[in-house]
Amino acid sequence: MARISSKSVLHKKISKELVRRVHKVLKNSYAPYSKITVGAALYCANGNIYTGCNVENGSYSLTMCAERIALYKALSEGEKSFFLLLLYSPEIKSILPCGACLQVLNEFAPEIVIVTMNQEKEFHFYPLKTLLTKPFKYSV
Ligand code: THU
Repeated sequence: MARISSKSVLHKKISKELVRRVHKVLKNSYAPYSKITVGAALYCANGNIYTGCNVENGSYSLTMCAERIALYKALSEGEKSFFLLLLYSPEIKSILPCGACLQVLNEFAPEIVIVTMNQEKEFHFYPLKTLLTKPFKYSV
């Protein structure tokens, strides 16, 4: 019989908590225009979790994605080190972060792993580096 390590129990607890938090924050999504709701839960290296949902605007381009809201919340609270970001949208079969979010994540969390969840509770893992292979870099 396979032994369950304390590490895997811990991971299970963490992932359960991230899923719970993503579902909770999704209720606050404001998406009257696209009708696409998105929730994100950012797991920091110190164990703190920050969540975000998309917030749309009648002036469409002012819409803010769930991922960036979670990240900006964390940064503004002084977080510096990020481990993974769970992303979920009940309306999209296999959601992935948009290019703008990838670029912003790259600035602060180049090593982060993005975990996507679908309605069947299947998870896919994508290191940021595999989704954004050649980020814009500011150099003069
Ligand atoms: N959206 C996100 O929240 N994250 C993404 O990575 C892609 C798109 C939101 C923005 C908008 O409210 C809706 O999904 C449709 O684009």
